[in-house]
Amino acid sequence: MVDYEKLKRDIDKTLGIDLTSYKDQQMRRRINQWIERYQLQSYNQLVDTLKMDQEHRQKFTEYLTINTSNFFRDARVFEVIKDEVLPRISRGKRPRIWSAGASIGAEIYSIAILMNEARFTPSLLLATDLDESVLAKAKAGEYLANQIAGTSPQYLEKYFAKKGNDRWVIHENIKKEVVFKKHDLLRDRYERNFDLILCRNVFIYFTSETQHRLIANFVESLNPSGYFIVGSAEQIMDPAKHGLERVSYCIYQKTL
Ligand SMILES: C[S@@+](CC[C@H](N)C(=O)[O-])C[C@H]1O[C@@H](n2cnc3c(N)ncnc32)[C@H](O)[C@@H]1O
Repeated sequence: MVDYEKLKRDIDKTLGIDLTSYKDQQMRRRINQWIERYQLQSYNQLVDTLKMDQEHRQKFTEYLTINTSNFFRDARVFEVIKDEVLPRISRGKRPRIWSAGASIGAEIYSIAILMNEARFTPSLLLATDLDESVLAKAKAGEYLANQIAGTSPQYLEKYFAKKGNDRWVIHENIKKEVVFKKHDLLRDRYERNFDLILCRNVFIYFTSETQHRLIANFVESLNPSGYFIVGSAEQIMDPAKHGLERVSYCIYQKTL
């Protein structure tokens, strides 16, 4: 236990990731699996390797931050986004939308495609993540079959170009609509005045105290009646306490 506390401090110093806000049990299990996979002898040896080996550092960061994602992830939620959320926030204005913990950009590009289909114009499509290597992948906009699996054949045809046998590249006109930025949800200042914030499949790794703190930050960042969407396994237990009400599934609206 003492060792793990020291490891958390060392990881913060070496990678800038504050593991004290993440669920201990889950993170320890993942780190132990990594140590086994690379046949390291101790937490100290892991830290030494991270300090010396840049490639190991990058791979470990990707592993630790778990950046699995795909286009139109959770189809039911994207139906509500298309039919209710985007039309409402685009009525008479150009909305500001933020995908927080955006990973490879599949979520924000899915939103950009739906906006384009409905001829809505965003004022800002912001996608942020802690991990710079996934942000680079998001900017490149190149995807494998499993990452575009939720995309309809019509959208694939209209918004992607096939590259080789197994890759799809998102069109430049969609790519250029999105602003990508490095942002740590635990440490960095939150921008304001958003009409829609998505933070899906990120909360699940944080302790419940941290989750509450972040929800409060997101609510502050929303415009009145703005929407906040979390992952399907991340329902907010007492939304009213945060000034939110549930619209459907894991979609919430600011009540003020
Ligand atoms: C499982 S992915 C979710 C991607 C996307 N939102 C989705 O639902 O498909 C989780 C992402 O959260 C990011 N993340 C983890 N901790 C973070 C933090 N403290 N600040 C910002 N992003 C973080 C990871 O780097 C990873 O890309």
